[in-house]
Amino acid sequence: MAPRNKAAKAKSKAAAKKTAKKVIKLKTKKPPAKAAASNGLPRPSSKPWGQAGRALEGVKILDFTHVQSGPTCTQLLAYMGADVIKVERPGIGDITRGQLRDVKGADSLYFTMLNGSKRSITIDSKHAKGKEILERLVKLCDVLVENFAPGALDRMGLTFEHIHKLNPRMVVASVKGFGPGPYEDCKVYENVAQCAGGSASTTGFREGPPLVTGAQIGDSGTGVHLALGIVSALYQRIRTGRGQKVLCAMQDGVLNLARVKLRDQQRLKHGPLTEYSQYGEGVPFGVAVPRAGNDSGGGQPGWILKCKGWENDPDAYIYFITQAPVWGTICDLIGKPEWKTDPDYATPPARLPRLRQIFDTIEQWTMTKTKFEVMEICNKQDIPVGPILSMKEIAEEPSLRATGTVVEVDHPTRGKYLTVGNPIKLSDSPADVRRSPLLGEHTDEILAKVLGYSAADVVEIKASGAITAPEKPAKAEAA
Ligand code: COA
Repeated sequence: MAPRNKAAKAKSKAAAKKTAKKVIKLKTKKPPAKAAASNGLPRPSSKPWGQAGRALEGVKILDFTHVQSGPTCTQLLAYMGADVIKVERPGIGDITRGQLRDVKGADSLYFTMLNGSKRSITIDSKHAKGKEILERLVKLCDVLVENFAPGALDRMGLTFEHIHKLNPRMVVASVKGFGPGPYEDCKVYENVAQCAGGSASTTGFREGPPLVTGAQIGDSGTGVHLALGIVSALYQRIRTGRGQKVLCAMQDGVLNLARVKLRDQQRLKHGPLTEYSQYGEGVPFGVAVPRAGNDSGGGQPGWILKCKGWENDPDAYIYFITQAPVWGTICDLIGKPEWKTDPDYATPPARLPRLRQIFDTIEQWTMTKTKFEVMEICNKQDIPVGPILSMKEIAEEPSLRATGTVVEVDHPTRGKYLTVGNPIKLSDSPADVRRSPLLGEHTDEILAKVLGYSAADVVEIKASGAITAPEKPAKAEAA
């Protein structure tokens, strides 16, 4: 072929570009039916796993939450890819920003570990202009999440009816302490919920008072329940085209997590709870499920046993389960091979009245090993055991860092800190764990880019006081 001159080259390049453009146009003109599979659903993405966007991408959350329960929920949704816009009171913000502060002048870990991956806008919801901005947010968000005291949202003028009028597709999700009933108007914090949800009465030792647990089953537990309610409502909205109310009462959430104890309450009618050590100790049962110390909540007896070093290390313990299928292995391991055939020990029912003595014997063995040695030996033999890990050990555990369950993020005022990443792993939606926002960090960005206010509007809004903290009264006035 003869060499072409520059002009001809440019011409053919332009022609090629044109054709390429045409091809693209033709592609986009394909009728939607052909782009979908025969069941009407989108064809499986051909993108590599983890590169097809995040699970909740495109979902906008108006996050009106504070303290722990609500923020737990919205943080999870943010990890899943939702755009979470946290609305905070000007100048103050979520009260936890300043609670349990460890670094002077910086947002507390209480706040930063519950509000990662969100954006923050300050709006005074009781200011006329603030209400207007809020209503614009209501119109374009998919979900409003709140955990104010009962009635607070209504007092702001944001009744469900009003929200639904503005945006019939909106899901309005709330955490409250109690559901409808005698306590519905009560304010509730974590431990109140643990007590009212049946957890405290069944936690602790029989001889001692009720105990609350360190795991925040009332706050964070209810937040997790709420997140499930929200995604379910969003899924239903695909069919119905309308949003709905989602309510999670903390009492209900705790009870859901303590359901095995309501199971035991009903079993009590039919006789003693034989897997509770008090049965073996000959202590009669009362009318309600007792506290069971470290007894296992299931059908396989277990207890917390001392390990080497327990005298000085408060966490040198292991949870040991005498699972029936590996009973013979356990007997060999602890030097009691005769228990395999002894009728007093050979079967699970025969062992029930002797659990305390059995665990004392196993403990003689565990005390000769560190908790990690016990773990190593037992797991090799299929015996279920669990070391009591301190928070220090968890913070330093490399495998939790590797899976993104513990994540280090950097913060402009407090520096690096650890947070808990997404405990729910989706193979096609990697978690998006980012630091928490500063108070009002994204106010301008949200007003302009999300709500479409012009620069002049933003100046006017700022002057109105709807997004800025009220001036502190002069000393003379305050006095
Ligand atoms: N602008 C203006 N006012 C705002 C605002 C904003 N951006 N955000 C909140 N407020 C106002 C509310 O409107 C409310 O005012 P009102 O009482 O005049 O109506 C006020 O702040 C306080 O809200 P409230 O929820 O009552 O806070 P609280 O600190 O008194 O109580 C709880 C905290 C947690 C006890 C309570 O919110 C509650 O019981 N929530 C439900 C259960 C729950 O989630 N508990 C666990 C928390 S981890």
